[in-house]
Amino acid sequence: MRIIRSRSELATQRAQWRTEGQRIGVVPTMGSLHSGHLALVDALDGKATRRIVSVFVNPIQFNNLADFEHYPRGLEADAAVLEGTGKVDVLYAPDETEMYPPGFATRITVAGPDAMLCGAERPGHFDGVATVVSKLLLQTGADVAAFGEKDYQQLCLIRRLVCDLDLPVSIVPVPTVREADGLALSSRNRRLNAAQRQQATHLPAALRACIADIKAGRPVADSLQTCRDRLTGSGFNVHYLELRTGDTLEQTATPQPDARLFVAASLGDIRLIDNMPLHQA
Ligand code: PAJ
Repeated sequence: MRIIRSRSELATQRAQWRTEGQRIGVVPTMGSLHSGHLALVDALDGKATRRIVSVFVNPIQFNNLADFEHYPRGLEADAAVLEGTGKVDVLYAPDETEMYPPGFATRITVAGPDAMLCGAERPGHFDGVATVVSKLLLQTGADVAAFGEKDYQQLCLIRRLVCDLDLPVSIVPVPTVREADGLALSSRNRRLNAAQRQQATHLPAALRACIADIKAGRPVADSLQTCRDRLTGSGFNVHYLELRTGDTLEQTATPQPDARLFVAASLGDIRLIDNMPLHQA
């Protein structure tokens, strides 16, 4: 596995692969890699002949400086994890000035998803995501790229972006990878102390119970209120808890087939997000 730190070196590699007729698969990440990220690498099996994992903690998608500064980093450990898969050809890890040279002034806005859920709560966040993902897809020359359903709103935004900008890349969605106790894997989990890690298991448990309630015929609003109370009672500060459609993310009060439950809640200053489909396929 090669570690590439500059756009020019990446361009040379990409051009060589192009002439060889390789199909380039890309997994964009912010590092601190865990099995959730590796599931994205696995999802490229049979879809790409060369694989690039990017690691870049993208400053412009953090709307809180402390969150950016606290974000876990460790390129050596990430490189070892990727090497261990035996599947990754290039780890692309540009630094900040490589990605945003002096004078950088462009932002990409995807209108719809920006106004709800994490977008409403974190102004500018999704512009930062859309901008860096566009750059990464173009820099790598991705034919295919994998994104996790863990960040379902982000996945919807990227699908919209790729469609609207005619980017020649197909997007592979990957189901959320969870710990044995149900907590969705996330780089942020590393910041939870032992007591918070214990509390965190209430998040997926409350979502599952809420889904069971709704499927049992309880009104959606009542089920959501019970779930919210349960989370608050377990020490969470609930930012949002909503049932929305899986395609356009419109809020819904009816348990339609593609509906998903979305939650953002914090323990102390650590913000966790999760989502689950009402009906598993
Ligand atoms: P990051 O949080 O590192 O996540 C990188 C990718 O891994 C995303 O597509 C995310 O949805 C996926 N992922 C994270 N945890 C997962 C889990 N438990 N199961 C399945 N997939 C999981 O998301 C970002 O970085 C950034 O916003 C990025 C897209 C790289 C742009 O900066």
